[in-house]
Amino acid sequence: MKVRILGSAAGGGFPQWNCNCYNCSGVRSGTILATPRTQSSIAISIDGRGWILFNASPDLRSQLESARPLQPRTGMRDTGIRGIVLADSQIDHTTGILMLREGCPLQIYCTDMVAEDLSTGFPIFRMLESWDGGVEHHEVPTDGSSFSVDGVEGLQLTAVVLDGKAPPYSPHRNDPHRGDNVGYLVTDTIAGTSLLYAPGLGQMTPELVALMKTTDLVMVDGTFWCEDEMARAGVGTKLASQMGHLPQSGDDGMLAWLRTVERPRKMLIHINNTNPILIEDSPERAEVEAQGVEVAIDGLEFEVQMMGGSPTAGGISGDVAP
Ligand code: MLT
Ligand code: MN
Ligand code: ZN
Repeated sequence: MKVRILGSAAGGGFPQWNCNCYNCSGVRSGTILATPRTQSSIAISIDGRGWILFNASPDLRSQLESARPLQPRTGMRDTGIRGIVLADSQIDHTTGILMLREGCPLQIYCTDMVAEDLSTGFPIFRMLESWDGGVEHHEVPTDGSSFSVDGVEGLQLTAVVLDGKAPPYSPHRNDPHRGDNVGYLVTDTIAGTSLLYAPGLGQMTPELVALMKTTDLVMVDGTFWCEDEMARAGVGTKLASQMGHLPQSGDDGMLAWLRTVERPRKMLIHINNTNPILIEDSPERAEVEAQGVEVAIDGLEFEVQMMGGSPTAGGISGDVAP
């Protein structure tokens, strides 16, 4: 299967429109070595013609304009997008649905919790009823059973329930429900490769580590380097954990967990504009790369390769928390 990274930044993008933090002002003025990034979304395909869009960011229009394979091919109205799969109901992952209104009925795959938010607190499903056909909601199961997206044969999807946060506008923000946040295990049933996409991940667990060990690629939450990064950058007081993101640094951080996962290619995605790993010659970036972990960048398109090693090596019993 092919993966195309449409947007690798967290909500706000990089630089963020109203932000003067070290990173945002530095990338604007060219005084730091860093590359701008749009907001969080990827697309996956087997044949390069039919794509599943994972999350729909507010930057979707420009992301599609720079992604030739997803553009119209034949007929007066056309798209490479066969379905839209949502990880949560965050603004940065769902606002792009409105940019697709000309293509209603939209085929949207998400959990019942996400559909509820998108019908109440941020009622875009209801709003789109005024466009032809509106939204066709396909409920994503959270019991571990898999599903596929119509028109993209050969890709099997399984939602992985995650410990994360519902958006600030959601009644579930401080009252978590199963299915508020999920990641996706995507398996290419023809090539036998698989990946885990989890752009919002508040906590790692031995079960998640065991799952990662079975995959060829993990694309995981790269939002923050450290727990109090917003305060350190002078842009806020919220902690990473309060926002549902596991920071990379620290004894119990994402990098420590990823060190226990050998098999897959590893990539950080959904990177907040305050994160020092965005600075290409920073010590934090060097630490990430020294560990063989990549920092996702917009526009990257690649084929998922089968990795060496036993896909079930270790397993839950062999896991040691960092
Ligand atoms: C998050 O994942 O916490 C979001 O990026 C925040 C936002 O979009 O405002
Ligand atoms: Mn986000
Ligand atoms: Zn900033």
